[in-house]
Amino acid sequence: MAVDGVERDGLTAGDVAIVTGGGGGFGRAFSLRLAKMGARIAVWDIDEAQGEETVRHVAQSGGKASFFRVDLADPASIAACAEQTMDALGAPYCIINNASVFPRGEVIELPLADWEWTLKVNLTAPFLIAKTFGPGMIEKGRGVVINLASGRAIEGAAKGANYACTKAAILSLTKSLALEWARHGVRVNAIIPGQSLTAMPLAATSEAEMHAQAKVRNPMGRIGYPEDVAGLAAYLVSADAAYMTGQGIAINGGAVMIP
Ligand SMILES: NC(=O)c1ccc[n+]([C@@H]2O[C@H](COP(=O)([O-])OP(=O)(O)OC[C@H]3O[C@@H](n4cnc5c(N)ncnc54)[C@H](O)[C@@H]3O)[C@@H](O)[C@H]2O)c1
Repeated sequence: MAVDGVERDGLTAGDVAIVTGGGGGFGRAFSLRLAKMGARIAVWDIDEAQGEETVRHVAQSGGKASFFRVDLADPASIAACAEQTMDALGAPYCIINNASVFPRGEVIELPLADWEWTLKVNLTAPFLIAKTFGPGMIEKGRGVVINLASGRAIEGAAKGANYACTKAAILSLTKSLALEWARHGVRVNAIIPGQSLTAMPLAATSEAEMHAQAKVRNPMGRIGYPEDVAGLAAYLVSADAAYMTGQGIAINGGAVMIP
């Protein structure tokens, strides 16, 4: 209890945290950081090799993590993975909806299948995950959800309307869930990262090009790294953020300044 008499809940050692896309760039950094705080991490990913690699990294740093294979484009796979996670670790305190896909193409040439796939992984999966684990969090009166948005939500994306639309929508889902769950002690926020060195942007450009562009365009003159955003997730799951819900917080070297 704090000096003002208000009880503030946050991640406690032993709590379970699900990190979707936990095998990827940000996902590994989130897993490592939350494991350091004592969370038991459920690494959800479609890529078994990368997911297991994250589990190894967490174990090497003295933390606890388990891998669960999931295809977030498939509701049946999400349901099965949720059941496996519950059986193995119990109900999660925290969920980081971090996995995303970004098939590229201008609207007039983007296949409908790519549009639908992007919506399924980036937006429908967090919706289904909220429906699956929300009731347990509400019952306990504690829980934290962190969604990964993108500056593209605000800027748009040429050759990426599909991705940009899902990132705008995830901000909206964040606010709606926050409103529905605030009275139940469950907080929902979004992280809005700037361009960072992970596999996702590297699918469309080179590392050298990313550095060169950031030098000119980014106010701080550099790209971001997964470690730059991991600390924000650590804050959002902690009791220090107990009065924060429904927010989208940008972390991008000043590239996009969001009110
Ligand atoms: N890297 C950036 O510059 C940047 C900028 C803004 C926002 N973001 C957001 O940050 C989040 C993490 O991105 P990242 O850069 O670490 O990407 P990444 O490509 O390194 O990792 C994404 C992970 O998601 C997994 N994944 C993809 N499809 C899946 C599916 N169907 N089922 C289960 N797992 C699946 C991949 O296997 C991968 O491990 C994403 O939501 C992304 O939109 C990234």
